[in-house]
Amino acid sequence: MTDARPLGLFDSGLGGVSVLREIRALLPGEDVIYCADSGYAPYGDKPLALIEARSLELCDFLLTQGAKALVIACNTATAAAAQAIRRQWPAVPVIGMEPAVKPATAATKTGVVGVLATSGTIESARFAALLDHFGQGVQVVTRPGQGLVEHVERGDFSSLALRDLLAGHLRCLTDAGADVIVLGCTHYVFLRPLAEQLLGPTIKLIDTGAAVARQVQRRLLEAGRLSDRSGGGRDAFWCSGDGARVTQALCALWPPGSTPQVLPASACMAGASALWPGVDIHEDC
Ligand code: DGL
Repeated sequence: MTDARPLGLFDSGLGGVSVLREIRALLPGEDVIYCADSGYAPYGDKPLALIEARSLELCDFLLTQGAKALVIACNTATAAAAQAIRRQWPAVPVIGMEPAVKPATAATKTGVVGVLATSGTIESARFAALLDHFGQGVQVVTRPGQGLVEHVERGDFSSLALRDLLAGHLRCLTDAGADVIVLGCTHYVFLRPLAEQLLGPTIKLIDTGAAVARQVQRRLLEAGRLSDRSGGGRDAFWCSGDGARVTQALCALWPPGSTPQVLPASACMAGASALWPGVDIHEDC
C-alpha cells in the first residue's frame, strides 16, 4: 500500500527545518507541509499548557491540509503535547522527538554527558523519564539554552553576540566534564558549525534529526503510508507571525546545510526549487 498525501511537520519556528532536511534526504519522494509557529516562538519558556494548545491547533491545521502523519519536529512540543496529540488523533501516525541521551551515554568517555535544551524540555516529566531510562551510570548535566532560539529565528548563526552566548552555555557543560553534548532542541542544530568551532575536536555533538527521519520512514512503512515515488517531493511552508521575516530566515537555512552552494537572497527561493523540487510559502496557518 502507498499513500501520496503529504507529511505534516511543525515546530515553534524554523528549528524543525533541521529535521525536515533529514527527512528530505531519506524520503525524497514525500511531499511535506511544514508549519513554523514563529509568531509564538520561543516555546521553551512558555507554559506547557499553552504549548499543548498551540500544538493541537497546528496539528489540526496540518490534518486539514491533508497530512497523512504528524512529525513533532520540536523537543519542547513533544514533551508538552505528544500525549495529547496521540489521544486526539489515535489513527494518525505521530512521530515525536527527545534529546539523544541514549547514544550520548554510549559515547561518553568521561562519564559526563551535557544536554543543551530548552527549559521546557529539561523541566518536563518526559525528560525525567528519559534520564531514568537511559541516564543511569553516567552524570547528565543540563543547560537551558536561553536566548539561542531567538538568534536562529532571526537567521543569525554567527554574530559576535551569539558566539558569546553560545560559548557561555557550552562552557557550563564542558566545565562540568562533559565530553559529549546533546543538542536537544531542533533550532540548536543550526548552531552546530559554530559550536564545533568553539569546542574543538575533542567534544562530540549529537542530535536526533537523522534518527527521527528513520523513525518516520519506519512508521510510514508499518502504516502502509509511504509514497510510491522515489523523488520529486514538494515542500510547502506555512507560518504564523511575520511572514516576510520568516521567509528571510528560511532563506538563510536554505538549501540544506549539506550543499555548499550559497544563494543570494533574491534568488534563493528559485534556487531552492531547483535543488529541492518545490517550495511554496504561505502565511498565517
Ligand atoms: N525547536 C524547539 C525544540 O526542539 C523549541 C525551541 C523554542 O521555541 O524554544 O525544543
